[in-house]
Amino acid sequence: MASTINEFPSTGDEIRKSFLDFYERKAHKVIPSSSLIPEDPTVLLTIAGMLPFKSVFLGLKERPSERATSSQKCIRTNDIENVGITARHHTFFEMLGNFSFGDYFKEDAIKWAWELVTNVYNLDPKNIVVSIYYKDEESKAIWEKVVGVETSRIIKLDEKDNFWSSGPTGPCGPCSELYYDFHPERGTNNIDLEDDDRFIEFYNLVFMQHNRDINGNLTDLASKNIDTGMGLERMAQILQNKKNNYETDLIFPIIKKASEIANIDYQTSTDSKKTSLKILGDHTRAVIHLISDGVVASNLGRGYVLRRLLRRMIRHGRLLGVRKNFLMELAEVGIQMMKETYPELDINADRILKDIDIEELRFLETLERGEKLINEFLISGEKIMSGLKAFELYDTYGFPLELTKEILEENNIQIDLQGFEKEMDSQRERAKASSQNIDLTLKGSIERDIELFDKTIFNGYQSLNSLGKILGIFIDSNSVTNASEGQYVQMILDQTSFYGESGGQVGDVGVIISDNAEILIDKVIRKKGVFLHCGKVLKGVISLNQSVETKVDKFNRAKAEANHTATHLLQSALKIIVDKSVSQRGSLVAFNKLRFDFNASQPVSTVQIAEVETLVNKWIMENHPVVVKSMQKDDALEAGALAMFGEKYGDIVRVVDMPGVSMELCGGTHVQENIRIRLFQDYF
Ligand code: ALA
Repeated sequence: MASTINEFPSTGDEIRKSFLDFYERKAHKVIPSSSLIPEDPTVLLTIAGMLPFKSVFLGLKERPSERATSSQKCIRTNDIENVGITARHHTFFEMLGNFSFGDYFKEDAIKWAWELVTNVYNLDPKNIVVSIYYKDEESKAIWEKVVGVETSRIIKLDEKDNFWSSGPTGPCGPCSELYYDFHPERGTNNIDLEDDDRFIEFYNLVFMQHNRDINGNLTDLASKNIDTGMGLERMAQILQNKKNNYETDLIFPIIKKASEIANIDYQTSTDSKKTSLKILGDHTRAVIHLISDGVVASNLGRGYVLRRLLRRMIRHGRLLGVRKNFLMELAEVGIQMMKETYPELDINADRILKDIDIEELRFLETLERGEKLINEFLISGEKIMSGLKAFELYDTYGFPLELTKEILEENNIQIDLQGFEKEMDSQRERAKASSQNIDLTLKGSIERDIELFDKTIFNGYQSLNSLGKILGIFIDSNSVTNASEGQYVQMILDQTSFYGESGGQVGDVGVIISDNAEILIDKVIRKKGVFLHCGKVLKGVISLNQSVETKVDKFNRAKAEANHTATHLLQSALKIIVDKSVSQRGSLVAFNKLRFDFNASQPVSTVQIAEVETLVNKWIMENHPVVVKSMQKDDALEAGALAMFGEKYGDIVRVVDMPGVSMELCGGTHVQENIRIRLFQDYF
């Protein structure tokens, strides 16, 4: 008997579920969404469903199964300016995907895509147009002969549109896309798929068969794969018959809440107010997931993406006339809507709301301070704001330039933008000149070659000296066979006692010697488990395959160890004194100092800092032993060991335990007993 309720999926949840169910029936393993923070360190955020499988496509990692399907949370910020303006651009979206890792290829992918959209989603074939890569006759034939799509509804597109890759390098291939045609009555002559009023692209089938290297050359992957992506919000727009993605049940409840707070009615609002409401709907989803996945607002990388989104929300709130903090209320709606699909939102709800509120209150203060300064300027009666003044507002007071522009425009005052840019440039120069950062970007052949080396064996936990063999030498990042006195080299050995920078701990310094040469090592970094010993050849000549002895500088290692163990004690003390939910976000363990970045719901007071200091020093005086052991990851976590959020660990983990005081998963080097730390003091 046919169901009397909803025979075909319509809500966002139904669409997601029926996609995964359909492919599960076709023997795909359902894989939960990965974090928005990708495993791949070269990528800022997860931008597609395939990203968690990138190394599988490249043959670097074992496939989880032959076929997989997922609903992946994604964020793209390249189109942020279009969010809220067009019907379908988002920062956050969910990508439904089916994947084949060397199993089925074009024919099944096309056939099943058609079966899904016409049988499960019940789209009328009259409303579907497909595009193919213009050289891909095979796909054309499958669409025509196997599926039965009319030739006039198959559109050929070039590389720009129908060749997909996740970035400038990596797995890629031609693709074929399905478009929904809102106006089939307009016929098939002169179809223009760019016409947003008529078409929406909703399902991309990528025939992932190549790898693109850094020179742009394509080589064949070991196997032919399928990577697909269907925009859940787009399918919802189609099936819910809405004018845009924002009005679907996946986003609209947030918009409704925002309009209630702003005391306006969405339907009768002006276009610009609608845009602000849509931006709030979109960005709310992005920020709750970013924070849930461990991103903290800052001025760098992902932290900056989060900060920018939050600040845009605050600004659009003000454009709607909202003067108080209101983002938490939107976030609450977003969490409620999505927590069943993404249970981590529920688990992290308190942290998400607190982080949002703190950032919002801070920015509101900034806005108020800036607005006061601008008002003073307005009263002065000047008609042009100098670049220096605008820069001061931006740089010293954190007031966004676009806001300065907006307020001045409202008052018919000009702004010297060229002068502003000049100040910006000098600021950049100053920052560059004073930067002490180690350049970890590898350029030249080393970037490629490093993949070819086995992971370096580190035996510096047991001993500061070790024997090794030179496997690679690079000068200015280019591979060489030998190097001589005075040259600065990067060296790869089969094994070493030098710690390679990781987990916040700096690399060791020391010397590497051979029968006839000596190299002063001033930094050791690691890339993909391969240690690069960087330093100057003090005397003699070094050559490939030569045997060497690695000798770590004892004094500096001891200082790094003391700082690393102190970092663990610091974390424990913060949890006791500040808040048990304090969690590590990063750290620096250097020879002369340590820095610990953490998340806390409120600023830490001076009194608390003093208490933390006292507690750590008490533990040092009690001289707790430091016991290092290997454990099964689950057992270690069960026993209460702390792990760094977002970090990937293997099944067997190294645990650094100071029984009763601290227990952490850690690969760093440590003192054997606390007294070796001597004194823990906050100098700032
Ligand atoms: N990876 C493809 C995309 O993002 C499916 O469009």
